[in-house]
Amino acid sequence: MRWLLPALGVVIVFVLLGGAIFGLSGRLGAAPEQPVAFPHDVHVKGVGLDCTFCHRTATTGDAAGIPSVEQCMFCHRVVGQGNPEIEKVRQAGQNQSPIDWIKVHRLPDSVHFTHAPHIRAGVACATCHGQVEGMKQARQVRDLRMGDCVSCHRQNNATTDCAACHY
Ligand code: HEC
Ligand code: HEC
Ligand code: HEC
Ligand code: HEC
Ligand code: HEC
Repeated sequence: MRWLLPALGVVIVFVLLGGAIFGLSGRLGAAPEQPVAFPHDVHVKGVGLDCTFCHRTATTGDAAGIPSVEQCMFCHRVVGQGNPEIEKVRQAGQNQSPIDWIKVHRLPDSVHFTHAPHIRAGVACATCHGQVEGMKQARQVRDLRMGDCVSCHRQNNATTDCAACHY
């Protein structure tokens, strides 16, 4: 039975690795395949749009908000005809059917996160989301789990009351 121990070792390593990989999906570093290959860099660096031109409720609401197809059509009714990715946008606009974007960040339902107080306190988008203006594909670059939230709150004399972040 000399083979048993090493074999068990291999199984355990695979289980741990699998867990680590599953644990990471949808979190740090993950850039999910989107229904339209929307490039942030082209629109922010290239076209010169502000983050809040598209994410309109970031300064006022809980959610930053994802722009509707109508907002894309403001430009793409005219811009980029014949580009296959833009044709997908135009098709959705003509059919008045939303684009089903896949969430990059996702907190559990038991957590209450609001954008507005952070923006009001002067925390920049990049502090939590990184250099989105340079990204081809949006991805998560910061942990943003409880330890991360609470340690920044401590550093800034913001609340560490459980009820502020949990329903
Ligand atoms: C032209 C409109 C537009 C502009 C300008 C724009 N975004 Fe976005 N953003 C989108 C769309 C559409 C998505 C959803 C598709 C995706 O995830 O790539 C998105 C997704 C995101 C996400 C991921 C959201 C999630 O699912 O968790 C973040 C973070 C983000 N944007 C931040 C920014 C920041 C920061 C800026 C400014 C530097 C910015 N965006 C500028 C349209 C825009
Ligand atoms: C203090 C950290 C922090 C800052 C600052 C911040 N965000 Fe977020 N953002 C988050 C977290 C956490 C989520 C995930 C929220 C959830 O899943 O409920 C998120 C989600 C998003 C999403 C996904 C859709 C949504 O509304 O939840 C977009 C888009 C986004 N942020 C854009 C921005 C933009 C643009 C700015 C700057 C104006 C910004 N964020 C500033 C932490 C931050
Ligand atoms: C203010 C005008 C404007 C808005 C609003 C806008 N775009 Fe664009 N978009 C552009 C311009 C300009 C280009 C560059 C076109 C080119 O290079 O031919 C572009 C390029 C693109 C491309 C192709 C990029 C490439 O590299 O081929 C896609 C896909 C795209 N936009 C999707 C979207 C989506 C989805 C929205 C809505 C969330 C949106 N755009 C909103 C102006 C805009
Ligand atoms: C980079 C620093 C930073 C990070 C990371 C951060 N926050 Fe904050 N948060 C702040 C600051 C600063 C304030 C504003 C405090 C004030 O207005 O006095 C704030 C305020 C809040 C508020 C409003 C509290 C109130 O009293 O109304 C909530 C809720 C909140 N944060 C939740 C979260 C959650 C959940 C996360 C993690 C997903 C998070 N924050 C991550 C800095 C941060
Ligand atoms: C600044 C925001 C913030 C504060 C304050 C905070 N939490 Fe959390 N908490 C989070 C976030 C974000 C998550 C989800 C991500 C993770 O698992 O770390 C979480 C997750 C949890 C979980 C895991 C279960 C779940 O919902 O996923 C428990 C249990 C928990 N928190 C308890 C507490 C208790 C007890 C306190 C007060 C001592 C507290 N939290 C204070 C942000 C916060």
